[in-house]
Amino acid sequence: MVGAVAVSLTSAVVKIAGDKLSSALGEPAKLAWKFNKDLEEMKDTMESVAALLQDAEKQSGKKESVRLWLKRLKHAAVDISDMMDDYQDTDAHATAEIPGISHLTAALEKMVLAYKMKNMREKLKKINEQGQKFNFTVSSSHLEQLHCDEHETISVVNEVEILGRDGAKKEITDLLSASHTKDQAMVLPIYGLGGMGKSTLAKLVYNDTQFKKYDHRVWVYVSQKFDLMKIGRSIISQLSTGVQQNTDTLELVHQCMNDLFPGKKILIVLDDIWEENEFKLKKLKSMLDKTGSMIDVIVTTRSEGIANKICTIAPYKLEPLKDNICWDIIKIYSEFKDKTNKGELRKTGLDIAKKCGGVPLAAQAIGYVLKSKDLHEWSDLNNSDIWNESSRVDNSQHEEVLPSLKLSYERMLPILRLCFSYCAIFPKGHDINENDLICQWVALDFIKNLSEGKECIKKLLGMSFLHHSKLLSVS
Ligand SMILES: Nc1ncnc2c1ncn2[C@@H]1O[C@H](COP(=O)(O)OP(=O)(O)OP(=O)(O)O)[C@@H](O)[C@H]1O
Ligand SMILES: [Mg+2]
Repeated sequence: MVGAVAVSLTSAVVKIAGDKLSSALGEPAKLAWKFNKDLEEMKDTMESVAALLQDAEKQSGKKESVRLWLKRLKHAAVDISDMMDDYQDTDAHATAEIPGISHLTAALEKMVLAYKMKNMREKLKKINEQGQKFNFTVSSSHLEQLHCDEHETISVVNEVEILGRDGAKKEITDLLSASHTKDQAMVLPIYGLGGMGKSTLAKLVYNDTQFKKYDHRVWVYVSQKFDLMKIGRSIISQLSTGVQQNTDTLELVHQCMNDLFPGKKILIVLDDIWEENEFKLKKLKSMLDKTGSMIDVIVTTRSEGIANKICTIAPYKLEPLKDNICWDIIKIYSEFKDKTNKGELRKTGLDIAKKCGGVPLAAQAIGYVLKSKDLHEWSDLNNSDIWNESSRVDNSQHEEVLPSLKLSYERMLPILRLCFSYCAIFPKGHDINENDLICQWVALDFIKNLSEGKECIKKLLGMSFLHHSKLLSVS
């Protein structure tokens, strides 16, 4: 068990370091420095080392030498991660046009970095060579296999904190109240950019009095890993509280639903679907079509394509919030009401709100950052170059990071950034036990103790980079 934890931690830092190397290689500015050969070699070595980790897990419990090797690897990965942070900073200095002495400083930083980079490359090469001697079996998919347990999001929502969505909520409830074909589930997808408030809107509808009158309401968090059996079982377990059902096969899942659905009015929310495969989506739909029942299904997804594939009525596109609503959210999160210089802050605050692109998550995150800042810092943030970087506030794809989120991330203390980056090893929606997470941060030497960890979690929750989960954990 200890070995497994050590490997998970090592995998995590190896992944973080590998990601940093890959992203540095993807930036053309770096190539001018002729570091790309070092970076490329380190990235390749990182990949071959990562492929050994699965087998190392099995062997680390039995062999002290393997445990020590993992420790060395972990330390090297942390060093590389730090070095890549220096690399980014040095790059920023060097690419800025700074006259005189600053040029010298930048050149010196570059030399130090070149030295560090050479050392790290050699150290990593040695670790890899030692690893090869253990004759571990190579696996290429270990990192993807890590932490793939997921749990559903929760249907509970604090309605007073949700602003500007009354209209959207009414439109959804009206659409669902329209006539039903008996035998076929009515599927209404809500689609829109990440953080736009799709799940929140679904929660508002789910908790509306109209749906509380239904025989059943079911909330399923689907997640990036689509598993039809799991979805079916989740629905069945929420419909048949207390009664154990046999759901060993998909056939039995269908049968259970055939028994449970007829004569019932049921609202099902399938939150956060990423599956694009039309065949799989069809199977899901047909699982919910039951004769003699009235099934309303709300799906949330970032993708318009998925929405179109799964819908039975025209999908609902969730539009951005108005700028003044984003400003209201910023006011809440920045604790604006307690500020003494409201008049001066308001204009800058409104300007920042406009830059949130109507995305509530962005407004929350930036509001939290503004909480501890003075007028000068508010202006500084408002004038940051990050806002000018291209950001895609549309629904075509979902990978672009909003400038306001980038800003929140950049303004984090380095320790907090490291702790947050570590969370990238968990899939979206994963329930993370708070104490376990803190222990892992401590084990990685990111932080010193429990209270420091609690403080980090509080800050990440405040910025909406983590969310409370239904269990005593964060996600
Ligand atoms: N109208 C709103 N007013 C205030 N806060 C909101 C509003 N809508 C959403 N939020 C907050 O914004 C954050 C993101 O919302 P939510 O999780 O619903 O987004 P999403 O569109 O489902 O994102 P994803 O695509 O990542 O699943 C949450 O913290 C939520 O509480
Ligand atoms: Mg969501």
